[in-house]
Order: sequence, then structure tokens, then C-alpha cells
Amino acid sequence: MAIKRIGILTSGGDAPGMNAAIRAVTRTAIYNGFEVRGIMRGYRGLVTGEIKEFTSSSVSNIIQQGGTILKTARCQEFTTPEGRKQAYENMKAAGIDALVVIGGDGSLTGAETFAREFDVPIVGLPGTIDNDLGGTDSTIGYDTALNTIMEAVDKLRDTASSHERLFFVEVMGRNAGFLALNSAIASGAEAAIIPEIETEVDQLAELISTGFRKSKNSAIVLVAESPKTGGAMGLAERVKKEFPEYDARVTILGHIQRGGSPTAVDRNLASRMGAAAVEALMEGQRNVMIGIKNGELVYVPIRKALSHEKTINRKGLDLVKILSI
Ligand code: F6P
Repeated sequence: MAIKRIGILTSGGDAPGMNAAIRAVTRTAIYNGFEVRGIMRGYRGLVTGEIKEFTSSSVSNIIQQGGTILKTARCQEFTTPEGRKQAYENMKAAGIDALVVIGGDGSLTGAETFAREFDVPIVGLPGTIDNDLGGTDSTIGYDTALNTIMEAVDKLRDTASSHERLFFVEVMGRNAGFLALNSAIASGAEAAIIPEIETEVDQLAELISTGFRKSKNSAIVLVAESPKTGGAMGLAERVKKEFPEYDARVTILGHIQRGGSPTAVDRNLASRMGAAAVEALMEGQRNVMIGIKNGELVYVPIRKALSHEKTINRKGLDLVKILSI
């Protein structure tokens, strides 16, 4: 069946650049003769039928805005067969033939199931600060979050060095250490503690035993939020008990990492991916995510993007150590 009307939604945690992606999908679709509908609050808008007509001006002046004009939600109903059936009925009633879903792991899991159950053409865009989707070197929002963390750490370093303290800075990432590791490199931190190597070494003991104080009087350690790392609080507690000679402090950056105007890198990525999503539908692609590999856009089966096969480059951890001697 020929596609006439495309629906767009953003789901899960918001990420800077989602608006740039919404704009690119909308305008590329209109340029190619499709009609567009904006679905509000992620899958919830499909379940409740909160669907709006989108014109070119619906997406004016948003490329620079963080967050998502479509709003977002984590929708429980959509995880049930009844909820998805309701969503399909509303989608059909609104005349929507295909969907572009912008979101992370949970959102694309929902897309994959929905596409299979109801034979709906769906293209996913990786929208998450966590960068934890397979088949793509980067996700929309990741670069902006890295920059936000880097700027915060630059500020923390002033006080850390003045007081000669050890700072544990906890960053987001769900179960992945991409944000922690790469913000550690970018901010010249003394260490990154990430979930990916939790079972292999006691990262805190190693950090202390290699004597970060030998040449420095203060240190910044980026900690990924996963329970596997113990989190910044857990690590500071351990320092208090096991290494009381250190004066440790904790900063949890929290949701500040999800906000802000997207960087040029994220705006360009979102614009390219958004346009590619429409082109993918025109080519008859379904149940794929748009990824970027070595600078080129690629189609990744959503199932593969969700396979958690993306590994962290461990050389990065060595680099943090080498560059902080
Ligand atoms: O997936 C994005 C993310 O920001 C994760 O890094 C974090 O663990 C989670 O969402 C927080 O979710 P919420 O905003 O629902 O607390």
C-alpha cells in the first residue's frame, strides 16, 4: 500500500536534537508530497488518539531548542497487546500509513513489536543521550550531553583543585559507560568508572592504588550511573571507610544532562537522519533504524540496534589513565 501520511513521535527520555529531527522528518516528507501528523506524548498519543496535523510551519524555529515539541512519555499501556491494538486503531482512524519513531532502547523495542504485530512500516531514529544503540556510532543528543558534562566538570575542577579533593561526578547512561568514558577524556578527568568492566577489576581500588595523588592534589572521577559501578554515592562511601585519608565529594549531574540547545554536531546528525528516515520509507524500508557509521548514514534492522552488541572502546580507559599522569 502506498504511503500517503506519515506520523512522527518522540518517546522515552528526551534528547537535545529531537526537535531538529522532527523538523527534518516533517519538511522532507512535505517536500516529497506526504502529509504529516505529529503524535503527542510518544506512544501515549497513539493510544489516546492525541494526533495533530503538521505543516511546514509547525516545525518553524525549533532546530535550536532542546527537549521535544511533541512531548514525550514512557507509556505502560503500549507494552500490552490491548494498548497496541488501540494504538493501531487510532493510527488507522487518523489515516496514518507509516511511522517515524524517535527514541532510545525502550522506544525502539515498542516500535519493533508494533511493526511486526500490525505490519506497519516504521523507521526509527536513535534519540537518546546514552549512545547505547547498536549499529550507529552516535545517537542524537549524545554530543550535546557530552558537552554539558564537560562544561560542568570544568567548573568542578576549580573547586576540586582549590580544596585538594577527590570528586566523584555521576553521569547518566542507563547501563552504558559511553557518556562517562568520553566526557572523562574530554574533561581531562583522572578516571572513568563504567559498568562494562565491573566484573573484571575493582576500579576504585585500582584508582587509589595507582596513587592518583602522586603527582596531583585533586582528582575528578567520572562515574556511570549504573548500579554496577556503585554510583558516585556508593564509591564515596567506600572511600570514607576504606581510604579515609582522602577528602571525597559527590556531584550527581542528573537531568541537566538532557537539556540545552543541541550542538552543531547533533543538529546536523538529526537533520540528516530525519531526512533519511523519509527516504527510507520511500524506498520501502520497514523496521529499520537510521544509524551513522564512519560518517555515512546506514539502515540498521531495529532488532540489531537493540541487540546490545555495541561495545565500549577500552583503549579510551587507557587513554584517560595515560593522559592524567
Ligand atoms: O535514557 C535516557 C536517560 O536519561 C538515562 O540516561 C537515565 O537513566 C534515564 O533516562 C532517566 O529516566 P527518567 O527521566 O525517566 O528519570
